[in-house]
Amino acid sequence: MNLFVANWKMHMTRGEARVYARDLANLLGEGTPDVELVIAPPFTALEEAKDSRKRWSIAAQNVASEFEGAYTGEVSARMLADAGCRYVLVGHSERRRLFAEAGPVLARKLARAREAGLTPIYCVGETREEREEGLTEATLTAQVETLVQDPADAPLVVAYEPVWAIGAGRAATASDVGSCRRLLAELLSGRRDFRLLYGGSVNAENARELLESCGMDGFLIGGASLKASTFARIAGLV
Ligand code: PGA
Repeated sequence: MNLFVANWKMHMTRGEARVYARDLANLLGEGTPDVELVIAPPFTALEEAKDSRKRWSIAAQNVASEFEGAYTGEVSARMLADAGCRYVLVGHSERRRLFAEAGPVLARKLARAREAGLTPIYCVGETREEREEGLTEATLTAQVETLVQDPADAPLVVAYEPVWAIGAGRAATASDVGSCRRLLAELLSGRRDFRLLYGGSVNAENARELLESCGMDGFLIGGASLKASTFARIAGLV
């Protein structure tokens, strides 16, 4: 089943999240969607973004690398599971770039997520400079190495998000996405259960064609996911 994840980033008050959830519920109507939908709201709006009828589930955008303790400002995996999260984003390029999160800390976050029963949505992707220098494969390989301790029989989602396509207004081409998909599938071939998403400037106009041609199992969507109707269109539901 294809998977569509709405990454709200640092957007949406509780009131706005409530309106969004109501709009999305109205768009979906009575039926159960034949795709999997996930919303990743900010921590403060986790509750408001939920669907009481479970037509979509909830992801956190980040998780602490430690179990618990004196870590002011951090939110633990156990707290997220308790708040109803099913998934958690780990290693989003904004966390890597703006908050200097690299392999060792991300590996600890993955471990904390697993202890709490959360499924990681692990994000990878090369920068423009890495692509131009021919380092795409090496970058993705190194980023996948971070999963070495992650249990190979546990379900995993990996999102390929080329940094140069995020928020750029222009997605990567189906052929670029397709070749990275093949590389990632090969790197993850020892795992039993994984899904691969693409993220980076997916919108209602490019989603259909891209999904059909790139071979991915769905999308991680930022800006275009901030309207319920656009998110539903990207997921092919309206
Ligand atoms: P974008 O963001 O869809 O706004 O490019 C994607 C992401 O960062 O997950």
